[in-house]
Amino acid sequence: MNDAPIHLAIDAGIARLTMNRPKALNALNSALLSELASILDDLESRDDLRAVLITGEGEKAFVAGADIAEMRDKTPDEARAFASQALTTIKRLERLPVPVVALVNGFCLGGGCELALACDWAVASDNAVFGQPEVLLGVIPGFGGTQRLPRRVGPAMALDLVTTGRKIDAQEALRIGLVNQVMFQAELEQYAETLAKQLGGNGPQAVRSAKQAVHDGMDQDLDSALALETSLFALSFAGSEQSEGMSAFLEKRKPSF
Ligand code: HXC
Repeated sequence: MNDAPIHLAIDAGIARLTMNRPKALNALNSALLSELASILDDLESRDDLRAVLITGEGEKAFVAGADIAEMRDKTPDEARAFASQALTTIKRLERLPVPVVALVNGFCLGGGCELALACDWAVASDNAVFGQPEVLLGVIPGFGGTQRLPRRVGPAMALDLVTTGRKIDAQEALRIGLVNQVMFQAELEQYAETLAKQLGGNGPQAVRSAKQAVHDGMDQDLDSALALETSLFALSFAGSEQSEGMSAFLEKRKPSF
């Protein structure tokens, strides 16, 4: 692996991003966030993109937070600019038109947890540790944690985590709905391969529309959101995927999308 702050590999439309500052437990600094923005420029322009998987280099951490050394001497204006840079970039990641999945392979704290929350879902290794420990440093979450965490796990659990700063293990993260699955660390790679095959084998436009319906619908009242679903459902009959998918089923063969 080269020493870029994020390692990017793309194979058959599946992009794999590895946060690559293992000596600092992959802490998010400005250089890493700029690199993420450049990678997003590339990913957003790819029509052949099918999914994005994100993990951390090494066996210890996904991301242990925003970089505390870089933040310590910031003024309020500088802190605002840093948070804004991260929020904008993380929102672009969240709004990629394809599934974005966090493979949480260890510490997932502060800004790291906020990064995972912006992913469509997360799976964790059994040694993963989650938390929003910002209050222990005299600050609050600034990369979206006070807003995305309650939307993921409910306000009571989010308030517990952001006001106590306590850390939780992977099993508790599973129980509260912060992650979808827990597995041994060695199994994360197999999960990534299985997921790449599953998502790679589905109708790519259908997968994009499914994500769009969920994301855009969450921001709307139920009637508007159901109307959006109907529009996207109808639109899926306009391309070649629906005809291929349904014909393949009736002809008892695998579809070729
Ligand atoms: C910078 C960090 C870091 C971080 C770890 N390191 N977390 N550097 N920013 N967030 C560095 C350590 O300084 C150390 O560097 C090396 O990584 C290894 O960490 P250790 O502490 O020696 O490891 P260990 O004893 O195993 O403890 C692991 C840990 C602990 C429990 C994860 O590192 C820790 O508590 N880290 C901070 C977690 C945190 O508070 N995150 C929230 C940050 S605030 P050296 O050079 O000594 O080897 C945040 C705000 C987001 O995220 C919003 C901003 C706008």
